[in-house]
Amino acid sequence: MAAKVIVGAQWGDEGKGKITDIMAETATAVVRYQGGNNAGHTVVVNGDEFKLHLIPSGILHEDTLCIMASGTIIDPNCMKDEIEGLRERGFSCDNLLVSVNAHVIMPYHRVLDGLQEQSRGNKSIGTTKRGIGPTYTDKTARMPRSIRMADLLDDDTLRSMIDDQLAQKNVLIRALYGAEPLDAGEVYDEIAPALDVVRPHIADVRGDIRNALENGELVLEGAQGTFLDLDYGTYPYVTSSHPVAGGACLGTGVGPTEIDEVIAIVKAYTTRVGAGDFPTELHDKTGERLRERGAEFGTTTGRPRRCGWLDGVALRTAAEINSATGIAITKLDVLDEEETIRVATAYEIDGERYERMPENLDMLGEVKPVYEEMPGWQTSLCEVTALEDMPDEARRYVDRMAELADCDIWCVSVGPARDQTIIL
Ligand code: GDP
Ligand code: IMO
Ligand code: MG
Repeated sequence: MAAKVIVGAQWGDEGKGKITDIMAETATAVVRYQGGNNAGHTVVVNGDEFKLHLIPSGILHEDTLCIMASGTIIDPNCMKDEIEGLRERGFSCDNLLVSVNAHVIMPYHRVLDGLQEQSRGNKSIGTTKRGIGPTYTDKTARMPRSIRMADLLDDDTLRSMIDDQLAQKNVLIRALYGAEPLDAGEVYDEIAPALDVVRPHIADVRGDIRNALENGELVLEGAQGTFLDLDYGTYPYVTSSHPVAGGACLGTGVGPTEIDEVIAIVKAYTTRVGAGDFPTELHDKTGERLRERGAEFGTTTGRPRRCGWLDGVALRTAAEINSATGIAITKLDVLDEEETIRVATAYEIDGERYERMPENLDMLGEVKPVYEEMPGWQTSLCEVTALEDMPDEARRYVDRMAELADCDIWCVSVGPARDQTIIL
């Protein structure tokens, strides 16, 4: 009986999908605990790339149960497209379940996400426009008759709930944003084609999660990352859920003492998509080189990711917030060509030194990172299969990362493929 949490230690896109897929091989179940199709998790198998937005990254292992738990939010059309795409590529998705209690991202949530972003003007968050904020807002506002997955099981219920929802949403859409109201019939028609595909997967998953936990190892897969967390991220430039390890308990109903490992996934450098402070961001040729070598373009929106050096202050803070027991270092190979690598080990704000992220993240914009320089290895790591075979400079770099996180290294990843992973 064991549960492991996979959590992003930065601003998302750390390589959670790749590491989840590896852990899924021996897991009884992989459970996504929060977020929706704002996520984009990539798994590469025998040169074939799979981009998963909603479905847990264990789905390529057909003996592993995959669950989207009550903390997630589901766009039925996205779920349908993903299931069909996987089936076309030979994966049945018979091992996929979604909680009756997961809230549904409806077309009006997506519309509202777009309108809200527009109304924020130059303070826009740069959301994925997938309807994430408005859906979680309805959930926490306890809006009467908010639609959950169980409500998709009956057409009459669904139609009447859409009517009720639009009675409120259209007031908002018209009066606040001056936009065109939505038609209930059209909203139903938009999601209707997904219903037959999605319905067989809707279940009371409490027992399934419990059985998987009691009979083996449960992997709880986070989306986004620690600094996109609603409470612990760079608010308001965050997502509307709890990617941190604590969110895994809330989102799945697995209690805190049942979690015995928390693996924080951390890129060997830092990236961020969308707006918000980013102390170690590089606006120069080095930043461009990291973007090119790391193929840093969003899996979900295709936007170029902002790139910078490793932020050791953020790493230290993330390891604490998540009580990380280990780190999975990814994309170390992207630094192969660097002559000198910089790591921020502290911040300076108004002459004061900070070893961990200040709680008041409004100060983050004024931060001066204190850098430590380390020599690069300037050789390819992509075929290295053991830490002992790495050049000393690369060894020193990963050891420094573990020191900053103050925990063990769980693995080092040197390429997108499964076999480009050194598990310790
Ligand atoms: P996630 O959202 O955390 O699952 O990460 P993404 O899938 O959005 O982004 C990670 C990207 O890096 C994907 O394209 C992966 O295939 C790729 N990737 C993962 N690990 C490595 C690695 O060690 N080296 C390189 N070069 N690419 C990697
Ligand atoms: P994975 O799981 C990186 C960012 C968006 C935006 C902010 C809020 O692939 O790591 P939202 O649509 O959630 O309301 O957008 O969060 N964001 C991500 N950035 N990786 C992700 O997911 C992200 N999901 C959301 O760019 O800045
Ligand atoms: Mg991603």
